Amino acid sequence: MAHTITLIPGDGIGPEVSSAVVRIIEASGAEVEWETKYAGAQALEKFGSTLPDDLLESIVRNKVALKGPITTPVGKGFTSVNVGLRKTLDLYANLRPVRALPNVPCRYPELDLVVVRENTEDLYSGLEHVVVPGVVESLKIITEKASTRIARYAFEFSRREGRGKVTAVHKANIMKLSDGLFLDCFRNVSRDYPEIEADDKIVDNACMQLVMRPEQFDVMLLENLYGDIVSDLCAGLVGGLGLVPGANIGERGAVFEAVHGSAPDIAGQNVANPTALLQSGVLMLRHLGEREAAERVERAMLKVYREGKVRTRDVGGTARTNEFARAVVEAME
Ligand code: NAI
Repeated sequence: MAHTITLIPGDGIGPEVSSAVVRIIEASGAEVEWETKYAGAQALEKFGSTLPDDLLESIVRNKVALKGPITTPVGKGFTSVNVGLRKTLDLYANLRPVRALPNVPCRYPELDLVVVRENTEDLYSGLEHVVVPGVVESLKIITEKASTRIARYAFEFSRREGRGKVTAVHKANIMKLSDGLFLDCFRNVSRDYPEIEADDKIVDNACMQLVMRPEQFDVMLLENLYGDIVSDLCAGLVGGLGLVPGANIGERGAVFEAVHGSAPDIAGQNVANPTALLQSGVLMLRHLGEREAAERVERAMLKVYREGKVRTRDVGGTARTNEFARAVVEAME
């Protein structure tokens, strides 16, 4: 049966990297149909909303979306579409697999870890107010329900993917109640998964360990703010945001996305690297149960990187976006 996928091409380089990824996925043997929808500034112009109902209904109906980057105005204008999507659809788990690619210069070519980030609460609840002029309060919300749900997600993911260890990262030595609750929930859930090692680290130490000895980590579980920061730190260990995939997953749907931005400096030049969105597409195919197609795409992509002849500008080559896509399609077995 064909899968219908909501495709949000996004802004800037979004349409270029999306069309490269669509071309590769269509060549993989997976039966997919696309429902193209708009978000952000383009949707505001066309439909009067940055997150039109039509888009949300499409994701809820199809349960899966592939999303390019969306421009977010800084300090003014509309609020982040990415945060809006996560909140509206309750996409509570943010997944960031971090693995180096052959022939891409990076600090840790052997690294292979996964960051699981709670996506709905913590300081990102947006509950801020001015107490008196000059004093602002921002509320950090941590609940037993959300902490248990994300811990279970991390262990279920580890079991499914054959990963051996989950490390909870926190600051429960200082935030004894909030991070303490997150840690308690993690420990409670871990008892249901005796085959998976469970340990924890304080976030500052975890950052130092990541830079010095990242291979000690397998799956990392973090609250929203620490997860946001640490997942980008981890991307930097293997070559940057232009390469790693991302997914936001909930009961009502899943949005697979490029974690880099819309790169206005190179938009429209056919030089963007579609690898991040492509790797998100591989995650999406696995999520859809299309394991064979996922592996075919991944093998072809790795082959192109291993051969090192067709590489985009950001990783030291001269290939254009569509040339990279063609090379991956031609490398498919
Ligand atoms: P950015 O990620 O768009 O660009 C940073 C640098 O990385 C630029 O030099 C760019 O050319 C390069 N780059 C990014 N992706 C690349 C790719 N696939 N291939 C080759 N080079 C690539 O970050 P920036 O400039 O901070 O943000 C631009 C816009 O994107 C902003 O409006 C921001 O809000 C938005 N943004 C959206 C995200 C999303 O939708 N998930 C995530 C991050 C930023």
